[in-house]
Amino acid sequence: MTSPGTLLVTNIGELTTNDDEHRDGARIADAAVVIEGDRFVWVGEASAAPSVDQRLDAGGRAALPGWVDAHTHLVYAGDRSAEFEARMAGQAYAAGGINVTVAATRAADEAELERLLVQRVSEAQASGTTALETKTGYGLTVADEERAARLAARYADEVTFLGAHVVPPEAEAEGAAGRAAYLDLVTGPMLDAVAPHVSAVDVFCEKGAFSEQESARVLRAAAERGLATHVHGNQLGYGPGVRLAVEHGSLSVDHVGFLDDGDVDALAGTWHDPARERGTVATVLPACDLSTRMPLAPARRLLDAGVPIAIASNANPGTSNTSSMAFCVATAVLQMRLTVAEAVRAATLGGAIALDRHRAHPAVGDRPERPRLGVVAVGARADLHLLDAPSASHLAYRPGMPLTHAVWRAGRRVV
Ligand code: NIG
Repeated sequence: MTSPGTLLVTNIGELTTNDDEHRDGARIADAAVVIEGDRFVWVGEASAAPSVDQRLDAGGRAALPGWVDAHTHLVYAGDRSAEFEARMAGQAYAAGGINVTVAATRAADEAELERLLVQRVSEAQASGTTALETKTGYGLTVADEERAARLAARYADEVTFLGAHVVPPEAEAEGAAGRAAYLDLVTGPMLDAVAPHVSAVDVFCEKGAFSEQESARVLRAAAERGLATHVHGNQLGYGPGVRLAVEHGSLSVDHVGFLDDGDVDALAGTWHDPARERGTVATVLPACDLSTRMPLAPARRLLDAGVPIAIASNANPGTSNTSSMAFCVATAVLQMRLTVAEAVRAATLGGAIALDRHRAHPAVGDRPERPRLGVVAVGARADLHLLDAPSASHLAYRPGMPLTHAVWRAGRRVV
């Protein structure tokens, strides 16, 4: 194995692979990996590593797959720190704040919107995020949603259409007819305009956003075009979001702060149903729960019931203005009662499963082959996060500390 451009990262004190072929919770002590091009081509114990032309000594540091952040809203302009301050002074979060960002985003020119997006993606990368999903949803006109989807497709691994974020004010002002017309737009011309840039459709199924029937219509329109779906559900109270996601075979239902036993059982059931190709992931958003002062999602209960979970940042200007996955992981361990191994897995492989990127997808049309994410395994995309710590447990043991030492994304060192 001596081809040019091959890199051996060796003397990794503890390597989390998420590859169940490895013993000890998918971790290897005294490990090494070989990266060639954009892939891992060898993973194992350092003593058995092949010799290659370039070598990097990790100095006994811990390494893990780069974070896979499966829920963000990064295409926007404007600031809502005043709303945040009011919330910290006791005001409740209401979905209506979204329209403040819609107005600022519509007013921004494309170059400015792209600059802001690039800045946010590179901030996320600086703390170890190597793959991310981002959503539209702050444009809410055909042109503004198309612009957001097109920009997002340049920088995100997966783009989700969220035209059904809220009914925009100009449609709301027209009463029931305006609302119906907006749904026609979202499920028709707007969806057609964004379709070349997105792989999935999302809907905010909540009081103040979209009802069960309206949300079901959005999910059906996505399925008719062969697009995957996600649901923002059970964020602000108990409701139909989880049930809808389960019924429509969504990849994930996100937020899930308010779950009854039926919701948990229904999610677990999706992973044991032979009629389904796969189940629905519960994506928990710890930074959002804290920033909205809502109850933390019951991640422990979900895992104990056999529901795969993802941990994501939900980076957005209203409810979670951070892309720090390390902060989310520390919160999941310290407050949601996950073990470090469970939280790290949920923030890497869990995110990949929520995006259906835990498996490779062959090239289709103009879309190139998409490699496996969220694992350190031969053939997976070479996304590696080296910590300034001897073990991943430091992520929760030393919360808030700058533990990212180096990051490779698709085989290229980016930090
Ligand atoms: O995931 N819940 C809906 N959407 C975002 C909030 C967006 C905002 O307030 O701007 C979320 O929390």
